[in-house]
Amino acid sequence: MIETVDLTKKYGDFFALESLNLKLEKGDLFGFIGPNGAGKTTTIRILSTLLAPTWGEAYVCGHSIYTHPREIRRSIGYMPDIFGVYDDMRVIEYLEFFAAAYRINGAERRRVAERSLELVDLTVKRDELVTSLSRGMTQRLGLARVLLHDPQVLLLDEPASGLDPRARIEMRSLLKRLQELGKTILVSSHILPELADICNRVGIIEYGRLLACGDVQDLLAQVRGRPVIRLRVAGPPEPAARSLEKCAEAAGVTVRDGEILVALADGVSDPSPLAARLIAEGYALVSMRESEVNLETAFLELTRGKLGRPAE
Ligand SMILES: Nc1ncnc2c1ncn2[C@@H]1O[C@H](COP(=O)(O)OP(=O)(O)O)[C@@H](O)[C@H]1O
Ligand SMILES: [Mg+2]
Repeated sequence: MIETVDLTKKYGDFFALESLNLKLEKGDLFGFIGPNGAGKTTTIRILSTLLAPTWGEAYVCGHSIYTHPREIRRSIGYMPDIFGVYDDMRVIEYLEFFAAAYRINGAERRRVAERSLELVDLTVKRDELVTSLSRGMTQRLGLARVLLHDPQVLLLDEPASGLDPRARIEMRSLLKRLQELGKTILVSSHILPELADICNRVGIIEYGRLLACGDVQDLLAQVRGRPVIRLRVAGPPEPAARSLEKCAEAAGVTVRDGEILVALADGVSDPSPLAARLIAEGYALVSMRESEVNLETAFLELTRGKLGRPAE
């Protein structure tokens, strides 16, 4: 549905985007992750045909940005990272205004506006002023707007940025719902954990270059290394830790903050022999869990050292 080939954008000698190769299949919910200045907005604006690349090619729904920009604009919903100001407009009028811009006329105009409002769960606010909406609701209204012409592809530039945790959760479930409706979605964020667990694929970009791209679980597995099991026993942990060191299943054992951390040996996925040993030796096992992969750490691991940092 979306493909870029060596897509490059230069400003003078500066590469805002350097040989970007991306591929999104139909139904993908693709997280485009990178810090500020990485090149996300540049990419999204090129895909929206609003900005010309310096070289390279991009296709949206099979259409080239060079030869068929009009077809592309019809098949995408582009939500920019800034929301224009529309004082004095009511929510429903705002949507009808944009439906008119898409040349949706007559009774159909009201109908698609109402349908879009319903999709983003904003029907209760239909007669409120746009300026009275919270940030989260404004973002949802922005989504309603790009859904008016029922596009197959959504290009959403940081829709969750600046939202409070609750609005962020609402935005996430809204994206999921749109994916279930069969939309192909590219959504950007400068925060990996914000998106990683709802996206089926992510691409990580920094300094205009794609550092990693693929299935979320595969990417995490790359940085996860060995599984780590965390155990707690009643009383001091050190003797129990020394006992666990003798387990064939343990590759390494450390104690941190009263918790015993065991890295499992190669090929071992079942940690139950650790517990069995402790219990057999008379330790009171209080808890045992697999260490969660911290997405923020994973993100840092993935990007660390791959590119030089610019001078501060
Ligand atoms: N019109 C422009 N002129 C010069 N540099 C630009 C222009 N637009 C963007 N840039 C630079 O290109 C880089 C990528 O920007 P952008 O795509 O907006 O990043 P992101 O959306 O990931 O934060 C940044 O370093 C930015 O300063
Ligand atoms: Mg941006």
